[in-house]
Amino acid sequence: MNAMPETVLLDGKAFAARIRARVAAHVAGLADRGLVPGLAVVLVGEDPASQVYIRNKGIQTRDAGMNSLEHKLPDTTSQAELLALIDRLNADPAVHGILVQLPLPGHMDADAVINAIDPAKDVDGFHILSAGRLATGQRAMVPCTPLGCLMLLRDRLGDLTGLNAVVIGRSNIVGKPMAHLLLAESCTVTIAHSRTRDIADICRRADIVVAAVGRPRLVKGDWIKPGATVIDVGINRVEQDGKALLVGDVDFANAIKAAGAITPVPGGVGPMTIACLLANTLTACCRAHGLPEPEGLTA
Ligand code: GUN
Repeated sequence: MNAMPETVLLDGKAFAARIRARVAAHVAGLADRGLVPGLAVVLVGEDPASQVYIRNKGIQTRDAGMNSLEHKLPDTTSQAELLALIDRLNADPAVHGILVQLPLPGHMDADAVINAIDPAKDVDGFHILSAGRLATGQRAMVPCTPLGCLMLLRDRLGDLTGLNAVVIGRSNIVGKPMAHLLLAESCTVTIAHSRTRDIADICRRADIVVAAVGRPRLVKGDWIKPGATVIDVGINRVEQDGKALLVGDVDFANAIKAAGAITPVPGGVGPMTIACLLANTLTACCRAHGLPEPEGLTA
């Protein structure tokens, strides 16, 4: 009897490093024309997790040869002041991408703030026009985390046509755009979520499982069809044996026994998000200047 082939660990850390290197190479080519892509990041308040994200974004943006323009505002900032800053960034030709770090303080209307960003600079892909374009199959800025998941899937599987894909989670940031991206790849897509009935049976039919529901180890090993590709977007802090631990939405230790390929947490999808943010910023810069877009860095 043949042994089961080894499960492939999808190394997002290494893959993200390759993407950043490709972005950096393209950025170096733009520098020869005197063009430097600029990413403006806006943080309102002092959320510690957001500060860590922003620091990492800044480092990786500069490492790729792009300008990182950071705007840190106190949490007493009014929405009108934030909107005035976004107007200035929209009008600034040195700024090709604008990212407003979420969550925003409670007194702000996040939708109104995001929709004030020039869609051409919407490198997060959260603007209602970006979402609508993606949903209708038009060229769009694609949210970074689902774009990273798609890159991992294409790299592993090549053509995704006809595959059964289950996306667990229906957020605007990951679940819904992920489902649209997979539809555009001609997958048969099911969106499941915390209220879905028979979620185990739905998963068992899936060639691709993307878990983005924010529930630690929700997806059990026996939900995974043998050979399926499992993408775990979850990053959940749990306590185990008195120690703090990061775990995904998938019960990794058991899912790995059935999966053909699986992303670990950490080191899977996580590093892909900033890499895709850099890719989107480069794409936005090329589009703004009517230059050819880098290949393989967009949906
Ligand atoms: N907060 C956590 N992740 C993200 C992200 O990808 N973009 C923005 N704008 N805020 C976030």
